[in-house]
Amino acid sequence: MECQKLAYLEQIVEEIRPLTKQGKVATYIPALGHANPNTLAIAIYEGEGNCFSAGNISEKFTLQSVSKILSLALALQEHGEDYVFSKVGMEPTGDPFNSIAKLETSVPSKPLNPMINAGALAVTAMLPGKDTDEKLKNLLDFIHQLSGNSKITYNEEVAQSEFETANLNRSLCYFMKSHGVIEGDIEDLLDLYTKQCAIEVDCNDLAHMGWVLGNKGFNPITQKKVLSHDISRIVKTFMVTCGMYNDSGEFAIKVGIPAKSGVAGGILCAVPNGPGIGIYGPALDNKGNSLGGIKLLERISAERNLSIF
Ligand code: DON
Repeated sequence: MECQKLAYLEQIVEEIRPLTKQGKVATYIPALGHANPNTLAIAIYEGEGNCFSAGNISEKFTLQSVSKILSLALALQEHGEDYVFSKVGMEPTGDPFNSIAKLETSVPSKPLNPMINAGALAVTAMLPGKDTDEKLKNLLDFIHQLSGNSKITYNEEVAQSEFETANLNRSLCYFMKSHGVIEGDIEDLLDLYTKQCAIEVDCNDLAHMGWVLGNKGFNPITQKKVLSHDISRIVKTFMVTCGMYNDSGEFAIKVGIPAKSGVAGGILCAVPNGPGIGIYGPALDNKGNSLGGIKLLERISAERNLSIF
């Protein structure tokens, strides 16, 4: 479904775009370094076919950490809360997304939450399916149902680029394997995780998925309930407490919307019983979140009174 361009949103995007110069595109995954830091786009889906957008709206980008809320939802659907949270905790951390520090100091040694890389890797290991291909297909099918867009797939170049350079994530996995948090072949898990992170979308897709998460799991395009109320509640709670990593507290105060960011520059926002918002701005702040995207959300949240607090 196409989003309608909205003049006042365009004006806000153009006012904020110069700030993107203060940010930096992620380069630790080499293929992400090709993005244009000046890019900024937003889509707001309000249900019943009402979608508004502004900026570089046709740009595609990879989900990266935004995928963590989707894999978590699917793992919860497959295994239930008790099993999932026996392997990964529910507590926020003030550490960066890729930190290994707390894995060693936490007793028992399980990742603090499913939004940091360690926790997300443990969740990816729980995706349903007999092998990597089937697990990825199940995750993509789930994303097709959430977004109403069956064309979504993963970007092979970005997946390969991350797979070749994911030594920090490899070390997190080996550490967790030695502590019994995950089992099985680590290279297979990294293959799946990097493909999951390389799933490619646009702002419109994020806005639609945000709407479904915000509106108790109901997809208005397909008229199907995709998620239980409980799972969408759990996922949104993690988005508030850990979705923007060690910026989650400040983001809750300044924006106040459940949101999940990714290092490619995407942010998926789900306002409970309200709009879904998709953002793309690849210039990141020093916490790994879209710098222009956060500024844009501060404006939109204040103007539309969207803070849930
Ligand atoms: O595992 C990684 O490092 C990336 N695939 C995802 C990290 C990420 O998006 C953190 N978000 N801001």
